[in-house]
Amino acid sequence: MNTLHLNDTTEDISAAAAVLRDGGLVAMPTETVYGLAADALNGSAVKRIFEAKGRPMDNPLIVHVAQFEDINRLGLVSEIPDKARLLSEAFWPGPLTIIMPKGSVIPDEVSAGLDTVAVRIPSHPAAQRLLRVSGLALAAPSANTSGKPSPTTARHVADDMDGRIEAILDGGACSVGVESTVITLVGDVPRILRPGIITKEQLEAVIGTVEVDKAVLNQLEKDEKASSPGMKYKHYAPKAKVVLLRGGDDKYISFVNRAHRRDDTVAALCFDEDIPHLTAPYVSMGSVDDESAQAHELFDALRAVDGLGAGIVYAHCPSAQGVGMALYNRMIRAAAFEVIDLPSKRIIGLTGQTGSGKSEAARLLSEFGLHVVSADKAARAAVELDEVKRALCEAFGDVLLPDGGLDRRLVASIAFSTPENTEKLNRITHPVISRLMLDEAEAAEGGTVVFDASQLFESGEDRYCDTIVSILADRDIRIERLKERDGLSKAEIELRMSAQFDEEFFKACSDDIIINNGTAEEFRAAVRKLYERLVRL
Ligand code: TXA
Ligand code: MG
Repeated sequence: MNTLHLNDTTEDISAAAAVLRDGGLVAMPTETVYGLAADALNGSAVKRIFEAKGRPMDNPLIVHVAQFEDINRLGLVSEIPDKARLLSEAFWPGPLTIIMPKGSVIPDEVSAGLDTVAVRIPSHPAAQRLLRVSGLALAAPSANTSGKPSPTTARHVADDMDGRIEAILDGGACSVGVESTVITLVGDVPRILRPGIITKEQLEAVIGTVEVDKAVLNQLEKDEKASSPGMKYKHYAPKAKVVLLRGGDDKYISFVNRAHRRDDTVAALCFDEDIPHLTAPYVSMGSVDDESAQAHELFDALRAVDGLGAGIVYAHCPSAQGVGMALYNRMIRAAAFEVIDLPSKRIIGLTGQTGSGKSEAARLLSEFGLHVVSADKAARAAVELDEVKRALCEAFGDVLLPDGGLDRRLVASIAFSTPENTEKLNRITHPVISRLMLDEAEAAEGGTVVFDASQLFESGEDRYCDTIVSILADRDIRIERLKERDGLSKAEIELRMSAQFDEEFFKACSDDIIINNGTAEEFRAAVRKLYERLVRL
């Protein structure tokens, strides 16, 4: 199909109206996002919307009209609740959608079999003209391919819909940028089904108490029914995997920078204020204090991260208050509900090569009064967890002892037999070990804790650290120490050492380094100095 590209002229609006009257599809600008419009009272025209978008048929559409009187005139609802009148006076035309009991003229395709209908009066001048000139009520979901970010420019629409629909009406960039607030007036208490830039507080100022549907901020359980079918689908997703990082601003920056150092497909979806501190490629959503700007930028930003060629995008989590609720709602869906809570504690990562004296440094820091979280201890606890034992059996076969405990020697022999198996083991255990360490850190007393981890970088635990300290020593000295301490042969020691990063790597990735080539007293003094530097005594 050859898609017509139209502008906001009298002639083009008439052409678009003619397409709609003939049962065709027109992408139209609204102040929120572009909508994919069809004659709402023509079931077969509406059906084509679902086909063009690849939208599940059980997800109902919003019906757009030019003015409040049209709702009754066209028989769209069976009853207009009083609160709908109040909301209309306050917010229409504008970015609000109201769900009411549906009228009998509404085809099943629009309401997806529900007994309600969603109605909105858009304020965008081109949408207003199209509605008036066509004389129709227009069913219009966002004009994106289902699952992708909603389009906020005609270019976005063309990227998804060219060749699939009759016409695209270009009305410039949408001023709001996120979809309308959806509120249902069916039920005892009005309830927000989708947050937008009209906030809960604004609505309550007009109609009193308003609830927020659980699905707005939380993931539904598998068998839970969504009040708004659209809430249950994966949404707004760029091709890259998105992970939401929740927590302090400094932590966000250090997390992303350290992740990027190890993986150059890492990118940031950030605020303007983060930009000067980031070393990873980024797309900004605007200033941290300007939520309207963020709403305006969000979908463009989600589409733009794919332009960076990113494999994984760490998004800076907005607050879920006010307009922020609308942003959070979209972002958590773009992230498929994958959220990392950044620790509130200051974390010192302590690592180093085998035989360098890292464990002694940990012991000393603990003696000086810091809480030390041991990765080895967390690793031992992790393999006792049922979820880990199950995953290990799935990966390596039956690796349990008759009493149900893990056969550690068997696991070790399988896991270290090939690099692929080692990788498999790490993929199963590292995230759990990190989680246990983070939990312990949060529960610990004091504002600063130490992560004692020889595999700090391999596990990704480095990303949670504010400061990283590596303990290093000359190779020959380390070999002598290991011979003495662990009674290992030179060959065994060499093998262990070859599995670790080299000194250059530790130096490049650390903020502080102690070279431990001297006596125990010298080392103690060096660690004491480090401690004082770190906790600023
Ligand atoms: O800003 C907007 O609302 C844009 C512009 C084009 O108006 N439209 C839009 O439509 O975002 P769409 O289809 O992408 O989102 C409509 C949402 C979906 O989550 C859908 O499940 C919900 O509204 N919805 C529609 N009718 C409903 C109903 N009767 N009951 C509950 N939820 C409904
Ligand atoms: Mg949509």
